[in-house]
Amino acid sequence: MTDTSNGTPRPRRSALYIPGSNSRAQEKAKSLPVDAVIFDLEDSVADEVKGEARDQVVAMIRDGGFGHREIVMRVNPARTEYFEDDMSAAVKARPDAVLLSKVESIDEIFAAERHLRGRPETHGIALWAMVETARGLLDIAKIAASTRTPEGHRLRGLVLGTNDIVRETAVKAGGDRTPVLPWLSMAVLAARAEKLFILDGVYNDFQDIKGFDAECEQGRALGMDGKTIIHPNQIEAANRLFAPSPAEISEAREIIHAFEMPENEKRGVIAVRGRMVERLHAQIAERTLKLHELITAQH
Ligand code: COA
Ligand code: MG
Repeated sequence: MTDTSNGTPRPRRSALYIPGSNSRAQEKAKSLPVDAVIFDLEDSVADEVKGEARDQVVAMIRDGGFGHREIVMRVNPARTEYFEDDMSAAVKARPDAVLLSKVESIDEIFAAERHLRGRPETHGIALWAMVETARGLLDIAKIAASTRTPEGHRLRGLVLGTNDIVRETAVKAGGDRTPVLPWLSMAVLAARAEKLFILDGVYNDFQDIKGFDAECEQGRALGMDGKTIIHPNQIEAANRLFAPSPAEISEAREIIHAFEMPENEKRGVIAVRGRMVERLHAQIAERTLKLHELITAQH
């Protein structure tokens, strides 16, 4: 959980991709309990129908009806022939965020910014960056740090593209993701260093609920804020596993309560249930409760 362009924290437990050309699935998303909807113009759309899908997505977003869901448009990479038209479409559609694909350098963030700047109507549009190539992973800290520059100020989050990472690097996919874990962890560090949010990659086998649960738990343990997903089957688990659990919520309340006791007012460290608890744990507890509150407010 981190900030959006308007500075309001929000949950991003589940971010559902929908092919730009699939109007039926897009319509369906209006009633699906996801935190974010990603309208894809990139890899799930065949070259032959790129234009058609772009128009479809603009119309769908402009029509609205997606309620509290964060609306995101994934555009083709800056080095493709589609990028300019995709960005012009984003200016028309005004999603909450534009998700840049296969980002490898800060120049690509700046290229997107050039389309958005200087127009009052694009003021609130955030940028999210997919990191999913070998070069992008190697330079991930630089990409994340672009948020410190005036031209990179819209960057709010990183999204991992694990299928492309597998394609690019030839690691063996599946299982417990051992080969990609160092890169996922580096990505989390890069995001946290710049106070960006970070979303985990997709799980392709949408019938395998147990496997998906395990990967969500792993992503959560790695520090991810949420999971990008591809199918309605995956919503419930992502929402549940990236939300604070009932045990975490009660523990957080207990820690905050303990520090509020008059006798602990001036203490930096106390014991709660036989464990050392410092002020930093109270900060974690507050973050947990804030996220819980935001999730509850959504329903
Ligand atoms: N968003 C919204 N609804 C979706 C959906 C999605 N991503 N994926 C499937 N659905 C809907 C279908 O429209 C269908 O609804 P219906 O019964 O009202 O027609 C229902 O869920 C069941 O779908 P199902 O038959 O199980 O799946 P499918 O064979 O139609 O589609 C995929 C499977 C993988 C092609 C599809 O889930 C998909 O396109 N996912 C997103 C892929 C994507 O965007 N990839 C790019 C990023 S990795
Ligand atoms: Mg990809």
